[in-house]
Amino acid sequence: IKVELAALAELNASAQAVMRQARAQVLAKMGTKMTVAEKTGRKDLVTNVDRSNEHFLVQQIRRLDPAAQILAEEGLGDEVKSMAGHVWIVDPIDGTMNFVHQRNHFAIMMAFYIDGEPTLGYIYDVMGDKLYAGGPAVGVTLNAEPLAAPLDVSLADGLFGASAPLLIHDRFNMQQVVSTSLGPRIVGSAGIQISQVLAGELVGYLSYLRPWDFAAGRVLGESLGLVISQVDGTPVNMLSSGAVLIATKSAQRAILAIVK
Ligand code: IPD
Ligand code: CA
Ligand code: CA
Ligand code: CA
Repeated sequence: IKVELAALAELNASAQAVMRQARAQVLAKMGTKMTVAEKTGRKDLVTNVDRSNEHFLVQQIRRLDPAAQILAEEGLGDEVKSMAGHVWIVDPIDGTMNFVHQRNHFAIMMAFYIDGEPTLGYIYDVMGDKLYAGGPAVGVTLNAEPLAAPLDVSLADGLFGASAPLLIHDRFNMQQVVSTSLGPRIVGSAGIQISQVLAGELVGYLSYLRPWDFAAGRVLGESLGLVISQVDGTPVNMLSSGAVLIATKSAQRAILAIVK
């Protein structure tokens, strides 16, 4: 199921149009009364907008790539058991807590893998109006302009994207990682924080993540020369959750030597 470069470029353009449409719909819904529900507890929320946007994205992916399998956070996709063939991975609102309480600092994310190979990725910072898009074959753009690869800055010379639970509980020796860096930054959206690594604003980001939290970031990051792995340095698995690190090459080296 190879896709020729011209077809991939066309798919990339269509997928970006879908992301822009999704953003417009989410912004419009923010002007109406939203319904918020707890999933597993008071720190795990879902809104009507998460669901309606997932419904929209799944529908659009089916139109663009009818035979594909879709793994989507809120369960409106397929039960994906293998990365064989065409697989799309969708996070309709990343940072739902921020979406509800800040109305800022959240992202829409979508990624496309062929036989497990990172192929296309999209992270849309909705309120910042920044769409990171593309992949290894088509290149990476920020709002349709080519995005330069971030410099290979070391951990000691950069800010580190932390996750609050890992830092508070000092999981994986996170406090040592953070004090080796210039300092921690915590946003509460994996998508936004990964986009900050893409943009060279952070040298790395480490968090306990599910596949839809890092699927797009992996495609975009690897295309820009960043590295992504589990916290023990082994490859990430697109069908399971774990502590995932995305970083510059030199920050990754330093971090893997510190984590326990
Ligand atoms: C969450 C956010 C958060 C991260 C969590 C994710 P959601 O995504 O990205 O920053 O720490 O692990 O689950 O549930 O808002 O899409
Ligand atoms: Ca969620
Ligand atoms: Ca998420
Ligand atoms: Ca989500």
